[in-house]
Amino acid sequence: AKVIFSGIQPTGVPHLGNYLGALQQWVKLQNEADEDTKLIYSIVDLHALTGSQDAAELRKHKWNTLATLMAIGLNPWRSTIFFQSDVLAHSELMWILSCEASMGYLSRMTQWKSKLDLEENHNPFEASPGKEGNKLKLGLFSYPVLQAADILIHRATHVPVGHDQSQHLEFARVCANGFNHRHGQVLVPPSTLLSPAKRIQSLAEPSLKMSKSHLNNKSRILLSDTKNTIEKKMKVAVTDTNGYVSYDPEKRPGVTNLLQIAYHMDPEAASAGSLEEYARQFEGTHLKTFKSKLTDVIDDHLTPIRERYFTFAASQNGELMEAAELGAKKARESADATMKAVRDAIGL
Ligand code: TYM
Repeated sequence: AKVIFSGIQPTGVPHLGNYLGALQQWVKLQNEADEDTKLIYSIVDLHALTGSQDAAELRKHKWNTLATLMAIGLNPWRSTIFFQSDVLAHSELMWILSCEASMGYLSRMTQWKSKLDLEENHNPFEASPGKEGNKLKLGLFSYPVLQAADILIHRATHVPVGHDQSQHLEFARVCANGFNHRHGQVLVPPSTLLSPAKRIQSLAEPSLKMSKSHLNNKSRILLSDTKNTIEKKMKVAVTDTNGYVSYDPEKRPGVTNLLQIAYHMDPEAASAGSLEEYARQFEGTHLKTFKSKLTDVIDDHLTPIRERYFTFAASQNGELMEAAELGAKKARESADATMKAVRDAIGL
């Protein structure tokens, strides 16, 4: 049977990159799943500790993220939705995997490197004298090992993510195969399920991916943004010197990104065919006109989500707490079954 697993960090209200690159796919998979398919989605609060460590913020973001997952249409009775820190076994399996994980392999992962803002050839493992020491925290470096544990502990067969997670999933497969090679067939190497919108770019700098950590908050559209806010962000979205729409992914990354967002949110896109075919109807349209059409498309798509989001977020957490408790219980059962086999295999 299929087991679908994925995770999201509670670092703020999710943005269009999260939604189009992953969350929209999570809901689709849930709604199209047959009875035998298990779906497990985690709000990875332990991973979020590698970023800022502000208790009040984290607590707020955890519940906001859960409210978002419910608002987009995940059903806590059908899918298991849980906070990672509610299931202790994730941390236990991480330790076990880390006893075999290769430092060399981990050091080649691009994500921690991009978070380090490496100064030229300075060695990230060496403490720089005089400063607060080493910028590289162990948790950021071993982040992929915890992610591998998340996936392997539920014996996930499929992991729906955006393109930026491909390297981490490859690492999870390496962990599973290595463990199985030494201890027998206990873990399941998962397949990566890339969403059709696998990479949404920043509205402010189309060469970068849309991200929660970008300083400019006009670089992303949040699922909770009102029409007025969407309109403002759209107005300043960076394109190029040509004021008219044309489809040219190589030379016009900004315009292409906007076309891509429209394509994945417009209910009429399905009948248009490919992105290129969809884009044809806007060929030669003034960018201003296209941006205002795109504002409508995004707002129409997000309005029901936003309304549900604010209802959940304001519901004094009753419904959310019930969902989290149910999710934690189901996730613990799933994790404990694997841990029994793992402990047995390694002689604990
Ligand atoms: P996170 O929280 O950064 O992002 C959640 C999901 O959103 C996708 N995504 C994007 N997709 C397209 N374009 C973008 N600009 C964009 N930005 C984000 C991500 O690919 C991801 O699917 N390490 C993970 C969380 C995690 C996880 C896991 C995922 C922890 N354990 C196990 C899968 C399985 C992360 O930081 O995602």
